[in-house]
Amino acid sequence: KKLIIINGPNLNLLGKREPNIYGSLSFTEFLEEVKTKYTDVEIDYYQSNIEGEIIDKLHEVGFSYHGIILNAAAYTHTSVGIGDAVKAIETPVVEVHISNTFNREEFRHQSFISPNAKGVVLGFGLQSYELAIQSF
Ligand code: DQA
Repeated sequence: KKLIIINGPNLNLLGKREPNIYGSLSFTEFLEEVKTKYTDVEIDYYQSNIEGEIIDKLHEVGFSYHGIILNAAAYTHTSVGIGDAVKAIETPVVEVHISNTFNREEFRHQSFISPNAKGVVLGFGLQSYELAIQSF
């Protein structure tokens, strides 16, 4: 099974960014761990701070991969374009967030991804990604 994790803006700073909310492990460290744990799946990784690049990547993988794990970060709450891309592709998308966006600011309570996602995992720290992997 071929899966891809797509991370949106500022997630390249994981480990350094607001560690009280997002933890102190970098994503590459975490990913290495996860890859050794889930050997029956192939896990690709892509991160971009640019909205259009995330849309391009969804188009690229969205008709051939088995599953997409998407943390669109701040674009979750703003991007009609990423929401439309999720709807346009065939590969199921599981939306992921590290933090529980519902116990944070009001503007984080809206998601343009959720209506077209297969499911949503949020609030479990980096473990949210693992739960999403297990769902495929
Ligand atoms: C986030 C939550 C978003 O509200 C925020 O903008 C992020 C990260 C999370 O994983 O908790 O950048 O998607």
